[in-house]
Amino acid sequence: MRPPGLVLGIESSCDEMAAAVLRDGREVLGSRVHGQDATHAPYGGVVPELASRDHLRAVSGVVEAALAQAGVAPEDLDAVAATAGPGLVGSLLVGLSFGKALAFRLGVPFVGVHHLEGHLVSAELADASLAPPFIGLVVSGGHTALYRLEAADTPPVLLGQTRDDAVGEAFDKVAKLLGLPYPGGPALSAAARDGDPAAVAFPRPLAGAPGLDFSYSGLKTAVALEVERRGELGPRDVADVAASFEAAATDHLVTRARRALRDEGMARLAVVGGVAANRRLREELAAAGRRDGFRVVFPPPELCTDNAVMIAAAGARRLARGARDPFDREAFSRGPLGPSAP
Ligand code: KG4
Ligand code: ZN
Repeated sequence: MRPPGLVLGIESSCDEMAAAVLRDGREVLGSRVHGQDATHAPYGGVVPELASRDHLRAVSGVVEAALAQAGVAPEDLDAVAATAGPGLVGSLLVGLSFGKALAFRLGVPFVGVHHLEGHLVSAELADASLAPPFIGLVVSGGHTALYRLEAADTPPVLLGQTRDDAVGEAFDKVAKLLGLPYPGGPALSAAARDGDPAAVAFPRPLAGAPGLDFSYSGLKTAVALEVERRGELGPRDVADVAASFEAAATDHLVTRARRALRDEGMARLAVVGGVAANRRLREELAAAGRRDGFRVVFPPPELCTDNAVMIAAAGARRLARGARDPFDREAFSRGPLGPSAP
């Protein structure tokens, strides 16, 4: 595989506009992430129309800032990669169109990247010694899935995924029920630190069920009922319910990940996506790894949540394999990663 040189990556699948410049798919020369928490906080969740409007205002400044940090002029770029999906189409269109237009103007190759391929690559960026075969656990606001990664040049195989809500979505919704500030996941995790994880015995999702699927809607309902039962919530209630929810939510991930490693005969696990930043999940999986004898790799928190470093890296790999996308490549809102990926 020929190293692709300087690649600009652009990510805009949800409410982060991000740009990064990588040399040869690994060395980060510049990286910028522009979030929109203040825009969406009053609504308690991402408002798609506001997200795409903010992206339009931010995109050129974010790309310029990443290039400036890298000390690179646009003309120095060898290729451009941008997230094509899945995600909010209005958001995706901004980064994807900007990336295609820039590549067209510069006369360099363009590739679209599947957002989850980016998340999975982030583990290999964080630990250069991690190489397939390994199991990938993707835990974010939009996805909860287990993949088997066989080799660098074969598509990941989906082993199981959520039947309803994503784990990050459950964190965000439970945080809202507990009156915690937006964005919910990190706030809930912080509140849980002062609570007793055994205060409420929330049911473990799909307990006793075989397979590698996930489910979070039942757990979310159980939390809603508990909150209703308690009435007015004091700080102690919030901490205890948060800690008990977090324990059940992470337990479910640990059970499924251990089963996947055992069933697939693997000894390496990569945990990626926003929820991989969760402290309890990191501790529980590290402890399970010591017990069962598997190695677990987590990217640093800034590579767990959405960023463009992972998109530039995944794009660089596709370019090195000879991939090129036409300038009419479209954004897509849904679609699994794998052989039939859009
Ligand atoms: O990967 P990401 O930035 O965006 C998606 O692709 O969805 O993940 C965002 C999700 C949100 O649901 C957020 O609440 C959750 O990751 N998250 C966390 C933590 N940090 C972010 N959930 C639990 N604990 C955290 N520390
Ligand atoms: Zn993501």
